[in-house]
Amino acid sequence: MADLITFDAKTQVFHLHNQQISYIFAIEDGGVLGHLYFGQAVAGYHGERHYPRKDRGFAGNLPVAEPERGFSLDTLPQEISSRGEADFRIPAFVIRQADGAQASRFVYASHRIVPGKPKLPGLPAAYVESPDEAATLIVTVVDQPSRLQADLYYTIYRDRAVIACSVCFRNPADQPAVTLEQAASVQLDFPASDYRVLSLPGAHANERHLQKEVVGYGIKQFASTRGTTSHQMNNFIALTAPDADEFHGDVYGVDLVYSGNHALTVEKDQIDQVRVVAGINPAGFTWELAGGAEFQTPEALLVYSHQGLNAMSQTYHRLIRERVVRGRYRDQERPILVNNWEATYFDFNEAKLRPIVDAAKKLGIEMFVLDDGWFGHRDDDTTSLGDWVVDSHKFPLGLKHFADYVHNQGLKFGLWVEPEMISKDSDLYRAHPDYLLAVPGRAPSPSRFQYVLDLSREDVRANIAGQLSDLLDQGYIDYIKWDMNRHLSDIYSHALPAARQGEVLHRYTLGLYALLEELTTKYPDVLWEGCSGGGGRIDTGFAYYMPQSWTSDNTDAISRLGIQYGTSLVYPPNTFTAHVSVSPNEQTGRSTSLATRGNVAMSAVFGYELDLTKLTKTEQKQVAAQVAAYKQIRPLIQFGHFLRLESGNDYAWMFVSADQNEALLFTFHLLNNGQPAFHIVKMAGLNPTKQYEDTATHTVYGGDELMHMGLYQPLQRQDFTTHQYHFKAIN
Ligand code: DGJ
Repeated sequence: MADLITFDAKTQVFHLHNQQISYIFAIEDGGVLGHLYFGQAVAGYHGERHYPRKDRGFAGNLPVAEPERGFSLDTLPQEISSRGEADFRIPAFVIRQADGAQASRFVYASHRIVPGKPKLPGLPAAYVESPDEAATLIVTVVDQPSRLQADLYYTIYRDRAVIACSVCFRNPADQPAVTLEQAASVQLDFPASDYRVLSLPGAHANERHLQKEVVGYGIKQFASTRGTTSHQMNNFIALTAPDADEFHGDVYGVDLVYSGNHALTVEKDQIDQVRVVAGINPAGFTWELAGGAEFQTPEALLVYSHQGLNAMSQTYHRLIRERVVRGRYRDQERPILVNNWEATYFDFNEAKLRPIVDAAKKLGIEMFVLDDGWFGHRDDDTTSLGDWVVDSHKFPLGLKHFADYVHNQGLKFGLWVEPEMISKDSDLYRAHPDYLLAVPGRAPSPSRFQYVLDLSREDVRANIAGQLSDLLDQGYIDYIKWDMNRHLSDIYSHALPAARQGEVLHRYTLGLYALLEELTTKYPDVLWEGCSGGGGRIDTGFAYYMPQSWTSDNTDAISRLGIQYGTSLVYPPNTFTAHVSVSPNEQTGRSTSLATRGNVAMSAVFGYELDLTKLTKTEQKQVAAQVAAYKQIRPLIQFGHFLRLESGNDYAWMFVSADQNEALLFTFHLLNNGQPAFHIVKMAGLNPTKQYEDTATHTVYGGDELMHMGLYQPLQRQDFTTHQYHFKAIN
């Protein structure tokens, strides 16, 4: 472990390090934890870059017998900051003490270093498979007057540029209750410099577009108050050097392993230092911490790259793919599916679906997914959520009868559910009108005609777990798509007293995690796909339960270029799904070729979402060829390294195998013009000394040629064109 974490008792410095990164902090005056460095690895820190002391106007000092005017919490970079004493910047935590005051200050009490990485009770987190993979430093800090304690967790992996952080608050048993009003997962202070901040804002059907802004003075927050991760703002940001790009420059990623309300807040202070605080959104949050109780924050994953965004993404991709996603499907190729949503919407029955299954079989597709509308009497979106029993009008012989048909055709059978929701027109609502989130005396707001079940309640979860188990126990369901089609409002739980209603949203998220843990453990052979009206809940926490998630309700290939580009910043391509749908597209009305739709969808977990019985003979041939081609390249796409090359009017990305013997390049050209410039695409991540053969043309190129000279893109007299190249090393 000493090769990963050291504590120098003389200098009072902690150093977490591997071959790639160093994270260094020190115990400063009064036991305050001063942050020193996060970045490229240094073999050893000799103690000469401690924070300089300077008396700054209006910067208060520690309340000790002989205050030092050059030492102020208001300027010192720290590991954990509070509100109420002399740090006027954004805090990492806020505590309402038993006497009503907010003042608190955590100072060093003790520390220990343990092999591996402890689990976070009730929360998703990155894990280790053997204790030798990582080491964890746990620093206990204490607020002396209240004796409240916090354990700061820092895990460093042996071969990853990642630090995993979280905090566990503890109130001693003999102390009065306090209220946590903010409890962030991580605080990261940066020395004065010029930074950019990258974020992933969006909207329904337009998720995770890369936004880059100058970090200016003041406070900027990237947050969700929607009770879930949201389409509107993903829970990841990165701070970068001004000139950082895909391949160059310092990049610091901050990713929250959480699916509830989040806030990632950036503040540039009066002397150009920058503080990032990330965690549960404090807006609307309170948590009563009784004597003897603990509160564990979600985890934050810090990633450093000195080689730009691609290297950061690859670190996240490998970590999420190998040590966040769990279960049988983690290392298994994901089936090519056809989903009936855009083919039929609610208008289907067994007789209408069978020909789609037959067509899927002929085309080589591996799974049929039955989407919304199979249960209750749901012929539109006004009804039946909460009643997870088959609609006998659509399936007179039962769901198993249809699933057997699908299985007999050699396909797996998948099913859509939306377990967190309830329709007022449902037996569940008629039996339990108090099950939904609603404030007494106020009518709750409908959204898509539906309401949210109070998953903070154990009895509500038990009901849903029971209904889903009844379905899954029948053994014919190979895949579940877990959807969520509205955000959380009218926050109130009948299970909590008035003073603790600020706990409902986090308890909802914990309840959801408990439900997912129960079901995914009980049904380990099911492939679970997350969904929230498309990509409203793509986050690293959800990936712990769901190996893959539906990226967006926008299936237009050209819209998907930007959406998938942004999504790939953090999430590996085998965790998000993409389907070929009809042209003109149902969401945008845009027409694109089957080849373009295919290449975009093949760049992730591949599938179709259209009425296969309506394909022309030529289209059938093309689809069969796409399906066959994807099966060949699937290992490379789902388990290779992904690299973004270009975005704009031309997009290019590629996949390369770990041994650099195989590579796939996808290029996309958007709008043509009358006098087009010739466009060269340069690859990356290849072995410069290897010779690569283009498997279609048999042309041979050096890895160095492909990376340094690049390839001219063919000119085409059409918008929205694409090209796919497959290279194999021949030496
Ligand atoms: C939203 C999902 O993203 C769609 O794919 C589809 O499942 C609908 N919900 C069904 O209501």
